[in-house]
Amino acid sequence: MPAKVVIGAQWGDEGKAKIIDILSEKADVVVRTQGGNNAGHTVAVNDEVYKFQLIPSGILYTGKKCVVANGVVIDPEGILGEIDGLAAKGIDVSTLRISTRAHLVMPYHKGLDKAKEALKAKDGKEIGTTMKGIGPCYMDKAERSGIRVCDLYHEETFAEKVRENVKIKNDMLKYVYHQDDLQYDAEEIIKSYRAYAERLKPFVEDTTVTVYEAIKEGKEVLFEGAQGTLLDLDLGTYPYVTSSHPITGGACIGAGIGPTMIDECIGVMKGYITRVGKGPFPTELFDATGDRIREEGHEFGTVTGRPRRCGWFDAVIGEYAVRTSGLTQIALNKIDVLKDLEVIKICVGYKFNGEVIKYFPASLEDLEKCEPVYEEMEGWGDISGARTYEELPESVKKYIHRIEELVGCKITMVGVGPNRDQNIVIG
Ligand code: GDP
Ligand code: IMO
Ligand code: MG
Repeated sequence: MPAKVVIGAQWGDEGKAKIIDILSEKADVVVRTQGGNNAGHTVAVNDEVYKFQLIPSGILYTGKKCVVANGVVIDPEGILGEIDGLAAKGIDVSTLRISTRAHLVMPYHKGLDKAKEALKAKDGKEIGTTMKGIGPCYMDKAERSGIRVCDLYHEETFAEKVRENVKIKNDMLKYVYHQDDLQYDAEEIIKSYRAYAERLKPFVEDTTVTVYEAIKEGKEVLFEGAQGTLLDLDLGTYPYVTSSHPITGGACIGAGIGPTMIDECIGVMKGYITRVGKGPFPTELFDATGDRIREEGHEFGTVTGRPRRCGWFDAVIGEYAVRTSGLTQIALNKIDVLKDLEVIKICVGYKFNGEVIKYFPASLEDLEKCEPVYEEMEGWGDISGARTYEELPESVKKYIHRIEELVGCKITMVGVGPNRDQNIVIG
């Protein structure tokens, strides 16, 4: 029974949660390893739509252990809201496990996120974050002033860390960001986090042991990635990225296991590309086709409701994701959205300084100069009712094979709609 990592191979929102939900049926444990409630993961079951931000999407199946591991940054108010929301829908959340080592998103992280974005927006240089305090929380983690879940259960240590942080953060907000009204009261935070600590206590444990033992016992463990390869702190379009590691390597650190314990690396792609927030996007469409994909694909942010930028499938990015995450399989979602287009384009390289390059450049200035080189493919009609590979039109089969060829990895699943059953398994 293998351990499988499922990651986003583009700029997030590839439909990772749908794939996790499908694979969860046979899994025993589902683990989130990075990011926080910046993620918006949607699962559609019949007419019911579930949205997850911190809790693994596997929770919809009774009895699956769902782990929020050490690499995740947890907003206690956010996760408790999710727990209550699921419980109200009759979903059993008793199988949830939260890492003692995970860092806590504090109210001042959200304040700093907003203050920094507002300041940068004056020069049009904001990242377009989700404002959930993710960047500032990971900053504190790296700077070694973060507060972890385990600290919640050592009252004096916790109070001391909050007081120390609040003093510094209030000064930053006042003197650096000139946000005189945005000041935090340490004692209020301590009080509210004590109440969160009580409620979270039954779920908290050393999840490095939980995950390790599950794999050792031969159980099927799924790692649910958040965000996507091009939002990776090291490999994405820096600085227009998130502050964690959405690539498969991030799952090892984020769960506290070694790479030898992973058997399969599944990359989720859409049949086109979207991006939410600012930053470069070579195949972005600014025309009616882009609008049509947005409408047809309901491409509006799950967390913020912002319209997602839409563009053609980019095989340079696809190959980059396969390479940097060692992908063994691809799940290609949302090809149903491309219906009724006469021509469908795939970007097969970038024209850069008079040459065609096939790698994704590091520098944003270089990326800015890259002009996509397109190959045109024949379109298709409504495929949302197809349930087998054989039922797909020839043009879709050709599209799938061309993508496999260009990115260098096999496509094992194809999504033809948002529902659990609208998924075709190949081979
Ligand atoms: P995630 O963040 O990667 O889990 O993706 P999101 O949930 O943010 O966005 C994906 C959206 O596409 C959700 O609304 C899904 O219900 C929907 N979706 C997933 N797969 C398919 C598919 O194959 N076709 C269509 N039409 N919608 C899909
Ligand atoms: P899922 O898991 C798409 C983007 C934000 C912004 C940048 C930094 O649903 O695929 P942050 O709040 O993380 O500091 O914002 O990252 N972003 C996402 N885009 N899907 C996500 O998650 C994202 N999480 C963050 O829009 O551009
Ligand atoms: Mg999403």
